[in-house]
Amino acid sequence: MSADLSPSDNAKLAAAKRAVEFIEAGMRVGLGTGSTAFWMVKCLGERVREEGLNIVGVPTSSRTAAQAREEGIEIVTLDEARWLDLTIDGADEFDPEMNLIKGGGGAHLQEKIVATASDRMIVIADPSKAVDHLGTFPLPVEVIPFGREATRALIERSLREQDVWARDVTLRMSGDAPFVTDEGNHIFDLSLRRIGDPRELSLMLNQVPGVVENGLFIDICDCVIIGHGDGRAETR
Ligand code: 5RP
Repeated sequence: MSADLSPSDNAKLAAAKRAVEFIEAGMRVGLGTGSTAFWMVKCLGERVREEGLNIVGVPTSSRTAAQAREEGIEIVTLDEARWLDLTIDGADEFDPEMNLIKGGGGAHLQEKIVATASDRMIVIADPSKAVDHLGTFPLPVEVIPFGREATRALIERSLREQDVWARDVTLRMSGDAPFVTDEGNHIFDLSLRRIGDPRELSLMLNQVPGVVENGLFIDICDCVIIGHGDGRAETR
């Protein structure tokens, strides 16, 4: 625990520190994106520099790639690594079954590909991310820019047909322009309030032409490490 950090950053740091203890020499590690994953990359960089830990990392975004390079972590593409031992990433929500909503940082497409190509996924989070039911956090859906409004209408129609209550399907903005992902796509954030059947919703969304990937991670996460403001970390 550091007196210079806010309780929230201390919680993220505590989870990150515990998670990087699972990284062993020779591993190929997926590196997540976001403010919690930031601490994980920092802690991993320390181990690489101080212990000479020999690993390669596969970043899940251009942001994480830049940070990993600064930290002196060797990075390779997923195709070069082919398969990963472990991915460590944050989440916007996790439920008791360890299903997740991700993509608040706009990187869920690469994050899902990387986590799915890993033997294990560890999520690091502060206690605010734990929910009984997914859906309070708006669900990110990455779509290709071509025909975006037609895709929006199809998403809305599919939600209605499935009886999924949706307040809004909102285009994510960055200033005055649509937010653009690392893959050159746009994101709709779906205000759903509560997701009854995450698996069914995920399948339904990914069937809509124009949808690239949604932020539901079903049966991908193996364990969650929850950090606390006082520096403790618990594993679920
Ligand atoms: C980025 C993500 C992040 O992991 C998620 O948004 C959590 O971020 P943070 O740790 O900043 O709360 O999915 O696409």
